[in-house]
Amino acid sequence: AVKIAIDTGYRHIDGAFVYYNEHEVGQAIREKIAEGKIKREDIFYCGKLWNTCHPPELVRPTLEKTLKILQLDYVDLYIIELPMAFKPGDALYPKDENGKFIYHETDLCATWEAMEACKDAGLAKSIGVSNFNRRQLEMIMNKPGLKYKPVSNQVECHPYFTQPKLLEFCRQHDIVIVGYSPLGTSRDESWVNVSSPPLLKDPVLNAIGKKYNKTAAQIALRFSIQRGVVVIPKSFNPQRIRENFQIFDFSLTEKEMKEIEALNKNVRYVELLM
Ligand code: A2P
Repeated sequence: AVKIAIDTGYRHIDGAFVYYNEHEVGQAIREKIAEGKIKREDIFYCGKLWNTCHPPELVRPTLEKTLKILQLDYVDLYIIELPMAFKPGDALYPKDENGKFIYHETDLCATWEAMEACKDAGLAKSIGVSNFNRRQLEMIMNKPGLKYKPVSNQVECHPYFTQPKLLEFCRQHDIVIVGYSPLGTSRDESWVNVSSPPLLKDPVLNAIGKKYNKTAAQIALRFSIQRGVVVIPKSFNPQRIRENFQIFDFSLTEKEMKEIEALNKNVRYVELLM
């Protein structure tokens, strides 16, 4: 999928240690570099610090482990994946005997300082966060002695969950919103709240698609990029990987953008109940 994506023209690759595929993703990137198709600097790889690695002394070794698996010298962006910490250790989802997650008390600001040190060491070109709300962003931004503010916040964002308030806040503070699940997720019940209807079946998205000879998926992606939200659509299907890239040859009118904005249900697909 990564190789087809690179051949198609994608350059931003959203990864994470916890996706258990950094080895394969790194290999695909390196093969494309070896082929001469791209240079390392053409790729924008985002890696993520998992919940079990928040203690400041674990941050750099964790990023170094990711780089070793990827066999890359640096990531373009390293982000704190979630604002809550789990007990450090081999179990990525540590649970007690009652099946409850074992959390770990850490200071997000101290974690952030360790992230800053990774940037200073050249291991990450930029640093950011994910799943942070306004209060958590402010906590970092108001930290005494802040060296670098988060460049981006990766959160769920799509026509059914448009995040108007967070988007405005981030705009004011020059923080890029990266929207995950821009197509409404794979609707895997093990982690998705499927009580919210399937995004791509939406009649408005489909009707607007008809006008431009585009699919509902393309309209959803175009809507996001047109409001300044970076999208990271996921597909393992070559045809859909290509389809999701064909969104730069048309634009939605202001009226259509408003119509799509009005679809917001304020309901998350990815509730992250942990
Ligand atoms: P597949 O991998 O079989 O293409 P999200 O990016 O919001 O997480 O959505 C991912 C889901 O959407 C996956 O199940 C993916 O399936 C599917 N998908 C990706 N691109 C399209 C598309 N253009 N049309 C319909 N479904 C798509």
